[in-house]
Amino acid sequence: MIWSLQAAPDLTDKQFAQWSKLLEDRAGICLSDQQRVFLQTQVTMRMRELGQTDYSQYYNRVVDGVSGMIEWAVLIDRLVVKETSFFRHRPSIDFVRGYLQNQINNKTLKGSFDIWSVGCSSGEEPYTLSMVLNDCFSLAQLDPYYGVIATDISRAALGIARSGVYPQRKVEMLEPHVRQRYFKQLENGRYQIDPELKQRVCFNHANVLNINEMPGIDQNVIFCQNLLIYFRRWLRHEIMNAFVDHLKPGGVLVVGLGEVVDWSHPDMVRAPVDDVQAYIRKAAV
Ligand SMILES: C[S@@+](CC[C@H](N)C(=O)[O-])C[C@H]1O[C@@H](n2cnc3c(N)ncnc32)[C@H](O)[C@@H]1O
Repeated sequence: MIWSLQAAPDLTDKQFAQWSKLLEDRAGICLSDQQRVFLQTQVTMRMRELGQTDYSQYYNRVVDGVSGMIEWAVLIDRLVVKETSFFRHRPSIDFVRGYLQNQINNKTLKGSFDIWSVGCSSGEEPYTLSMVLNDCFSLAQLDPYYGVIATDISRAALGIARSGVYPQRKVEMLEPHVRQRYFKQLENGRYQIDPELKQRVCFNHANVLNINEMPGIDQNVIFCQNLLIYFRRWLRHEIMNAFVDHLKPGGVLVVGLGEVVDWSHPDMVRAPVDDVQAYIRKAAV
């Protein structure tokens, strides 16, 4: 019987440790022992596609030079959780809306308003932020002057994000006026994001572990939700520290509620909001 029809052999403890270490070293993602079946399923599915039968041989293939990097790009997409939705955490989105609205009202907005969505998955989060910023500028009858940078480690997720086309189930929970304003229904029933909104969002492949190597402009808002939870506590803190260096004075860092505990930074103060975990960078003195 060929291997593809047989049950996959179980990962040994040693093999599980080896694969987990690779995932953590390269992507920061720390698997618990309960996720062994998940890891095994994803790895064996990929091995089947390649006609490979031996975990160790496949491991060597993944870590071998340039071709290994290409294989890694395929595998990592299978190992990350990409769940997301439009307006996923409303209080955090409303916090960003209020933050920009205040700057518009107080006339303290200087230059363009820049947001970075870190771990943007298939694009729902950065497009949501783009809708909110667009709303704020049009309410104030100002020309929209903003940009959204959206990064993720999964090339497949970025492909969906760049297409800006979503199935009906992804948009049906949106308020009808939002759907009408920012989406067009295609003949095949899918929904396409408004082109003007789309051109405001720049998608890039990036691993947040390499944050210190990321060039680019400082941000008014860094929005990072449902990503740091997969990392060890010390790594969450390191990345939070690095985020601070990418913020403009007065800029805000918004993370998922409860995703980072016991973190503080001399340049940051916690925003006094109950259901949002946000930190404001102190203005330069
Ligand atoms: C659960 S999704 C969250 C999506 C969105 N932020 C939200 O809250 O709805 C987590 C995303 O983080 C990405 N990710 C995981 N590890 C990463 C890393 N080391 N660097 C960049 N992105 C990563 C995954 O590919 C995935 O798209």
